[in-house]
Amino acid sequence: TNQEPERVDYANVPTAHKSVPRDQLKIIKELGHGNFGLVLLAEASGMTLGSKVTLVAVKTLKEGAGQSDKADMMRELDLMKKLPDHCNVVRLLGFCVEEDPPYIIVEYLSRGNLKDLLKDSRSKGGRVYGNLHGISKSLTSKDLMKFAKDVADGMAFISSQQCIHRDLAARNVLVAEDMTCKVSDFGLARDVMNIRVYERRSEGPLPMRWMALESILDDVYTAESDVWSYGVLLWEIVTLGARPYPAMTANVMIGKLQSGYRMPKPQHCQQELYAMMLRCWDDDPDNRPTFTMISAELEKYINKGK
Ligand code: ADE
Repeated sequence: TNQEPERVDYANVPTAHKSVPRDQLKIIKELGHGNFGLVLLAEASGMTLGSKVTLVAVKTLKEGAGQSDKADMMRELDLMKKLPDHCNVVRLLGFCVEEDPPYIIVEYLSRGNLKDLLKDSRSKGGRVYGNLHGISKSLTSKDLMKFAKDVADGMAFISSQQCIHRDLAARNVLVAEDMTCKVSDFGLARDVMNIRVYERRSEGPLPMRWMALESILDDVYTAESDVWSYGVLLWEIVTLGARPYPAMTANVMIGKLQSGYRMPKPQHCQQELYAMMLRCWDDDPDNRPTFTMISAELEKYINKGK
């Protein structure tokens, strides 16, 4: 998709999120969709004090979505309303939920989601690339570590606000024009963009490959289980957007995780970084690092020029 690199200054956007009249939005095109969810690019007037029109992303539901889809969306909106602004968290700009379909208006991030950005950066080198690629034609390892640090900072903030994300993955990180990564899609809005990754188990589809063992087995979600997911996201960054546990079904993966198996070190991954992944995937949630610790470590790592 060719997304126009328009610069938008959000410095003047009022923090008090408000209900926005629908006629202030001019829908331009679709940015993505899932079973029932839809994300649209729109031009909004009157969203900023300075400029007249602003590009925004509008999250909404397709026709045929059920009440539970709407309830999920309203939960996500409530969560976003409570969260103060942070430069590594996708910002809520407004909403129109009085009528159907409900709209959640968030900042538009011109480079789209991190997973696609990573995959699109792979060097194709004239041959069919394998699943565990690590050589990028456009991103340096310093860029990759900056992505990891941005996400860790966003998540450190989210957990400091007593929020649990529950669906942290590269597909739910969005990238701004200046390459800043921002965490998006809170509250496990289960359908929205990527139908294929939400594997079905007992009830409801779940992003199994990113979930901590205790979340899969005991339905326990904590800041520490978000850290496990972050470890998988690190693995996605290093492999330039590969699918975790390639060639394994979710059920095989669960059995192997329980017997102590963890994904091996990707080919182009530094030992220190792999050690961090393994700590994120510790059986004991208390042995996992916090997002603050991860961010500090990555900072050192970036400064060493790795
Ligand atoms: N895709 C989903 N949400 C988006 C956003 N806020 N900006 C750009 N692309 C998106």
